[in-house]
Amino acid sequence: MDEQFRGRARAAIVGTLLLLLSIYAPAASAQTFAKGADVSWITQMEASGYRWYNDNGTQQDVLQILKDHGMNAIRLRVWVNPSGGWNGVNDVVAKAIRARNAGLRIMIDFHYSDSWADPGKQTKPAAWASHNFTQLMNDVYSHTFNTMTTLATNGIFPEWVQVGNETNNGMLWEDGRASANMRNYAWLVNSGYDAVKAVSPNSKVIVHVSNGWDNALFRWNFDGLRANGARWDIIGMSLYPEPGNWQTLVGQTITNVNDMRSRYGKGVMIVEVGMSWDQATASKAFLTDIITRSRNAGALGVLYWEPQAYNWQGYSKGAWNTNGRPTIALDAFIEGVIPQPPGTIITLQENLTGFCGVDGTVDSNNPGYTGTGFANTNNATNAGVRWRVNASAAGNFTLQWRFANGTSGNRPGSLRVNGATISTVTLPATGAWTTWTNTGAVTAALRAGANDIALVATTSGGLANIDSMTVTGNGISATACN
Ligand code: GCU
Ligand code: CA
Ligand code: CA
Repeated sequence: MDEQFRGRARAAIVGTLLLLLSIYAPAASAQTFAKGADVSWITQMEASGYRWYNDNGTQQDVLQILKDHGMNAIRLRVWVNPSGGWNGVNDVVAKAIRARNAGLRIMIDFHYSDSWADPGKQTKPAAWASHNFTQLMNDVYSHTFNTMTTLATNGIFPEWVQVGNETNNGMLWEDGRASANMRNYAWLVNSGYDAVKAVSPNSKVIVHVSNGWDNALFRWNFDGLRANGARWDIIGMSLYPEPGNWQTLVGQTITNVNDMRSRYGKGVMIVEVGMSWDQATASKAFLTDIITRSRNAGALGVLYWEPQAYNWQGYSKGAWNTNGRPTIALDAFIEGVIPQPPGTIITLQENLTGFCGVDGTVDSNNPGYTGTGFANTNNATNAGVRWRVNASAAGNFTLQWRFANGTSGNRPGSLRVNGATISTVTLPATGAWTTWTNTGAVTAALRAGANDIALVATTSGGLANIDSMTVTGNGISATACN
């Protein structure tokens, strides 16, 4: 978390079976760049009455809103024995189950403290305070092992696990203070590493240091760990720039990403970013830049820290407006394009890469559609709905529409690709406005690059209601039009 908040917060406040289970754990999608958020506060916020709204002002599960903004991963911190229970193991498991059920990838972040651990504060859990160093290694092992086991018995094998949080100068002070005893720090890291792998061998272990631009700090920390035999898989970085310095700091962070990758031969991930919620334009530019450039530099992902926080505990670096809707900064994670592997089917809903224009409204007055709504065109000839589809090469593609027509007659459309009329699409009566069905498939030749696709009413009744369009073919993707 950022320095300012850290100060305020400081003031305020089964082995074998599991190995078998882990074989059946979903394969880590290591090839995909992770884009996500630490959302550890959500349960506590919900318990305080907080709710979240999408860009259109409709209340939704916050995880759905994040997914609709291009995110695919969630990070959750673990405290050992927190007062009130928030971020204790039960709370973490509840959130992890939610994330798993939402199809999100999961990162677990062990703080090895009862509260915030960060560069200025690595306080031992009260229960471990009088333990000697050997006991502390056992404490780290058993706390990590037990938490991982509880997750595993719920079918959760996190893709990533952080051993320590922002351990710029080690953890579990004084014993594990890196500047005083680098060996102790390294051995504590190994205690956590071994416990993670004992329960979930496929999980990647992250050691996390703040100030991603500070190459000297990273070299000192990881050189020390390496010299003392520490094991880790990924180097994690935080990055909280200001509107006036993000360009410089992103540049230095990319330099550091390159250096860390070549120096240690390990993966690198930007596990925390943030900027003031009321600097959304600068924040969006910063996020767009760090996502693009860190991916190009071979980093594994970018995660925003508690973007859903608004009017909450004095934290000002979320990405949410006070009306409960995301700021435009969050759009940086959409990146305009949803990349698709070859041979894919993409179904374009009204959100994200959805409708590029509706002559009428994006409506939800009838249930049964997918996504959050459908195109309800004006009842007029030439009223239509448009999409933008990219093809990596010119070729034939198959188009289909999901529609409902509660009248007794056809509400036909004309398919136009890049302005040319291709064919007529019948949209016959489906019996009710709540009965959705697919049109027949239509083949259309698309050109390489962006294609403008429109379905336009050919009769004065307008189109039937259109829920979505599906495109099938090799090398296609969609681009948002805003
Ligand atoms: C009804 C129905 C709409 C539909 C409209 C129409 O109002 O609720 O969803 O678009 O009829 O006739 O086009
Ligand atoms: Ca209509
Ligand atoms: Ca829809």
